[in-house]
Amino acid sequence: MRDHFEIRDHDAAGRIGRLEVPRAGVTVETPALLPVVNPNVLTIEPRRLAEEFGAEMLITNSYIIRSTDRIRGRVLDQGLHEFLGFDGAIMTDSGSFQLAEYGDIDVTTEEIIEFQREIGSDVATPVDVPTPPDVDRERAERELATTKTALADAEAAETGEMLVNAPVQGSTFPDLREEAGRHASATGLDVFPVGAMVPLLNSYRYAEVVEAVRAAKRGLDPDAPVHLFGAGHPMMLALAVAAGCDLFDSAAYALMARDGRYLTVSGTEHLEDMEYFPCSCPVCADHTPAELRELDGSGEDDTDGTDRSAEELLAEHNLHVTFEELRRVKAAIRSGNLLQLVDRRARGHPAMLDGLRTLLDHADELERTDPVSKDAFFYTSHESARRPEVRRHHDRLSRLAVPDRLLLTESDAPSNHDYDAVWRVKPPFGPFPRALSETYPLTAEVPERVDGAAQVAAAEGVASLAESNPDAELTLGHDDWVPRALDAVPDGVETENLRHLGR
Ligand code: GUN
Ligand code: ZN
Repeated sequence: MRDHFEIRDHDAAGRIGRLEVPRAGVTVETPALLPVVNPNVLTIEPRRLAEEFGAEMLITNSYIIRSTDRIRGRVLDQGLHEFLGFDGAIMTDSGSFQLAEYGDIDVTTEEIIEFQREIGSDVATPVDVPTPPDVDRERAERELATTKTALADAEAAETGEMLVNAPVQGSTFPDLREEAGRHASATGLDVFPVGAMVPLLNSYRYAEVVEAVRAAKRGLDPDAPVHLFGAGHPMMLALAVAAGCDLFDSAAYALMARDGRYLTVSGTEHLEDMEYFPCSCPVCADHTPAELRELDGSGEDDTDGTDRSAEELLAEHNLHVTFEELRRVKAAIRSGNLLQLVDRRARGHPAMLDGLRTLLDHADELERTDPVSKDAFFYTSHESARRPEVRRHHDRLSRLAVPDRLLLTESDAPSNHDYDAVWRVKPPFGPFPRALSETYPLTAEVPERVDGAAQVAAAEGVASLAESNPDAELTLGHDDWVPRALDAVPDGVETENLRHLGR
């Protein structure tokens, strides 16, 4: 289908989009965070999720509703929207997660899709098999075949205006993920969650999360809406969006709060150990950690007359930081500095740095959707040298014609010389004609003290130019480059150290 999703803006593989959810009569802006609502325990009233946090969509579990006698009849009578008190879009899960936890559930895809339609779900889910990471290939293949059957059963079901998820499985085998993505894309289903990520997310295996997402994306249509099932920690949102995910669902805000954990954009802290709150959300502005600890689950008489426990207040903070980060991610996509935000987040946790490095292994894929022009490129770490903009410049260099005798230099053009032309050299991009100085990305802000990674990337730019112009005579004036950068300059290019020349 896919005509329910419109992409408005790109940065790397991240995008701002609009997901039309016809059964709810709403259009949801992506990237979107769907708070997970446990139908038995409303930690935060769904109405407040919409009004105070800006949630346009939430996710709940139809399998739990179906197997809980106390609420099943009421949800069937009232419909899910009235039962929860939420008039945005509601996605429902199928019991697959319970299947993964307990090994068996008593419902088929046909039955649970029918039940989701009856309770008024806007986006339903078949019973896919969330194959965990690190299993043997035979199991991953066998379970993927079962997931494909579930997708076919969902396609055959009567769904009306309700959208349907087509989960992409394949465990930690990138080729299976890619194939699963291609298969899911070819169904008539609507939204594409990358599944069984929870074990990887819980152990901060972000490099493998990125590998799984990129593999699924290689199989999926570029304009398919992609959900990262079970992901909602604010630390990794920018990374996951840059890898190409559009939807997230967070149970973390409530689960973590239950254990006294406080989410931040650079990790998780324990309320127990905190002396100060680094945040200015309503909860953190009104309380100190000590005050929150004293509530101790007994409930308080808050200034607004409500009676909230420490757990509820922690859950609120957790959700505030998560939505705040999501807005920051969207703003970064608009300005074109999403990868800079990911770089900042990568400094908060080594596992995030692995995630960023893995994402940059796929710079060629990111380059395909990266805008040709945006806000200035900032060089903020040596990972910046591997950004898609650098790669694109190198590709472009191989198509530029050069004069016979060309000086490439990091300093100003010498006042008298007998070269046919003098080009600038700017790490990490490398050489370019002076006329391009004011065009993106060559307007980059680069530190005075360039690092070796930027010099190596610039040398690769020189190599790209030399390779496509074998007859040109190239001279490189460099500012004391490190040996491994000079090693990357082809033998045929003459080099001069500007420091030694005193320029
Ligand atoms: N929730 C978290 N992971 C999954 C998954 O792989 N499939 C389904 N259906 N729900 C999930
Ligand atoms: Zn806060």
